[in-house]
Amino acid sequence: MGYSFKTFLKHTAKDFYNQSVNPPVVRASTILFKSLNDIRKTQKRHLKDPTGGHFDYGRQGTSTTHALSKILTKLEESYHVFLTPTGFGSVFLAMFSVVRPGDEILVSDPVYSPTRILTQDFFKDFNIKAIFYNPRDLSTLKNNITKKTKLIFVENPGSNTFEFQDLSKIISIAKKNKIFTAMDNTWGTPYFLKPIKLGFDMAIVSATKYYSGHSDVMGGSLAVNKRVFKFVQRAEKISGLRMGPDDAYLIIRGLRTLDTRLDRHEINTKKIASFLNIHKKITVLYPFKKGTKDYKMWKKYYKGSSGLMGLKIKSKNKISIDRFVNSLKLFGYGYSWGGFESLALHQKIKEQGKRKYLNLSKDEHIVRLHIGLEDPKDLINDLKSSLKFIK
Ligand SMILES: Cc1ncc(COP(=O)(O)O)c(C=O)c1O
Repeated sequence: MGYSFKTFLKHTAKDFYNQSVNPPVVRASTILFKSLNDIRKTQKRHLKDPTGGHFDYGRQGTSTTHALSKILTKLEESYHVFLTPTGFGSVFLAMFSVVRPGDEILVSDPVYSPTRILTQDFFKDFNIKAIFYNPRDLSTLKNNITKKTKLIFVENPGSNTFEFQDLSKIISIAKKNKIFTAMDNTWGTPYFLKPIKLGFDMAIVSATKYYSGHSDVMGGSLAVNKRVFKFVQRAEKISGLRMGPDDAYLIIRGLRTLDTRLDRHEINTKKIASFLNIHKKITVLYPFKKGTKDYKMWKKYYKGSSGLMGLKIKSKNKISIDRFVNSLKLFGYGYSWGGFESLALHQKIKEQGKRKYLNLSKDEHIVRLHIGLEDPKDLINDLKSSLKFIK
């Protein structure tokens, strides 16, 4: 990269041609050429260098999407980054690229619920079997490997329950058994952890979250190493999963402040986590308690922590959990996260897929908080006045 991550984000993708600080939004379906020979040359160049500014049709991207792909390739320290219209599109593309009928895949038990539905249910129609492993006990990963295992899919930390896994151990098991690996790194982003550098074949980030940062765009990024590049390139071509230039522009704009925002999310979230930690009915699911296994695993791999956390709340009165969330004034109730604003959801995770290793009793409930960039004092005051509803 040459510069530090922070400097690189500010100085990359300048458009010297029209002298603007940011690359222009180039929208195109048809591209015109000087001759048929010119088209053929461009097609060859595109295959060799997919983000080198060579395209014969809008589905191969335009200079705007190529600029974003190049920035992310550097941030990820990967061989290449493919861009998809949503984060989930990148999850789908990663699997679609390497998994075939008759294969088995190992998936961490607490994955994002659409990833669960895709692997647990939808893949059955294609004779692909998903086996879910316990993120806290990697013997359940090792012992379920068969000759048919094609891919290990990791999401770290686990959605809603925030378990942190021993990532190098997973990579070493996969390498020994010649199995592909993919990691959903939306929580950490390459600002805090670079999965390809660590040894994963593929790394997914939902650009909808921290990359864009402003809750007004959707996108996904799939970083790959050289080993899987050809597989993903083939699947991408056939799937038509491509990000549009307007979305790419907004994501480039968001990336300029990725580091600044994430640093602030981390500071705010630690303050809120410490405040909530003293409540006797609440267990905070966030890597800030020294001595815990999750903290050790987080510390081993991550340079920082983002703004998404879980609260495990013990209460026989389920309705009181809804009351607590509903009475928050500064937290919006809505899906997604990673924007500048705080959000809260009472997650019905027992109803989302059949998690095998879910460690949650009948009287325990999960509230997911995204801690935004507001003044943490105001967020704490808001929480303070709502906590009384938990019975
Ligand atoms: C961990 C994780 N991965 C992937 C996705 C999917 O991203 P998108 O909403 O951009 O499709 C989400 C969305 O919430 C997520 O939380």
